[in-house]
Amino acid sequence: MIRAFDALSLPLLRWIDAEDAHRLAIHGLKFLPPLTPRADDAKLAVRAFGLNFPNPVGMAAGFDKNAEVPDALLRLGFGFVEIGTVTPKPQVGNPRPRLFRLERDEAVVNRMGFNNDGAEAVLRRLASRAHLGGIVGVNVGANKDSPDRVADYVRLIETFAPVASYFTVNVSSPNTPGLRNMQQAHILDDLLSKVIDARERVREKAGDSPVLLKIAPDLSLAELDEVVHVARSRRVDGMIVANTTVARPTTLRETTRAKEQGGLSGRPLFRLSTRMVAETYVRVEGAFPLIGVGGIDTGGAALTKIRAGASLVQLYSPLVYKGLGLVEDIKNDLALTLLRTGREQLSEIVGADAAAITAEDWPI
Ligand SMILES: Cc1cc2nc3c(=O)[nH]c(=O)nc-3n(C[C@H](O)[C@H](O)[C@H](O)COP(=O)(O)O)c2cc1C
Repeated sequence: MIRAFDALSLPLLRWIDAEDAHRLAIHGLKFLPPLTPRADDAKLAVRAFGLNFPNPVGMAAGFDKNAEVPDALLRLGFGFVEIGTVTPKPQVGNPRPRLFRLERDEAVVNRMGFNNDGAEAVLRRLASRAHLGGIVGVNVGANKDSPDRVADYVRLIETFAPVASYFTVNVSSPNTPGLRNMQQAHILDDLLSKVIDARERVREKAGDSPVLLKIAPDLSLAELDEVVHVARSRRVDGMIVANTTVARPTTLRETTRAKEQGGLSGRPLFRLSTRMVAETYVRVEGAFPLIGVGGIDTGGAALTKIRAGASLVQLYSPLVYKGLGLVEDIKNDLALTLLRTGREQLSEIVGADAAAITAEDWPI
């Protein structure tokens, strides 16, 4: 049924404006019949951050910013869904057009700017589906005009702790001016200490919520050294590598659209983000697991990301080109690989190629 949906919807959705297509996809998912997903191969189960993931393939942040369709996405076979980025106050984001497809590159450029319904509306939606279970992470960010950005993150942790399976602290979106500066060691240290304190304060009433840090793929290795040092010393539960890039690889074919301001994602982000996963993995030394995201458009690409150091993966832009059937394709490929190589669990190959990847030439 998903394949039939893809066959009908993909050509149509790609013919219309990218943001209208996204809205239509969200609407379509709201009407998804309550099908029961095929049970995942037990070998695909992953335990990370104290959570049991039925499979390692997650929906990345930015698709369901307002928690409108997390359960439809879980029913389609995702092992987990990350909603957001949510900010305390509702925000309209940047003026349209702000989302662009680079068809021939199988890429996307976006400068959405944290458009979202705000914490109150999103919390209401998450609370009304909380009894359904499934792993739904909440990606949090600061309002553009906030006088105290750290306070925004703290408030969101306190607000969403009862309904969040995990939190992602997003300091890596290129579309909120100055936000990525929060990756600087002294600012990050202050932010993470206050976020972790907030999590501890509400733990007794709201239960445990792992805190993950999502970083940009554009950090230098010296900056990454510092970020990992801070993340480890503040005892975050994991990191997500990576957000969209402000770089534009010289290999891009859609040269006009590539000039649009914003973050690039999809296939051209694969090599850089995979390199950053490997670089992060070798620095983390097993202190916590990583989620790898960026340009995963086949089972082979997911496997490469896992061998680079990712315990779990997430996708967004490749779904625009491959359709929702990609989720099943990746899971099938991963299960087959495990079968063929006689392994019991994906954890046996996490990071197997990390050292080798860090020795390669820097991806352009
Ligand atoms: C339209 C769009 C909106 C996004 N919005 C967010 C967001 O709100 N928060 C966030 O952390 N990442 C956001 N992302 C980044 C994705 O979560 C992901 O890190 C990035 O796109 C790389 O993965 P991909 O190549 O599979 O798309 C967005 C990406 C796209 C394409």
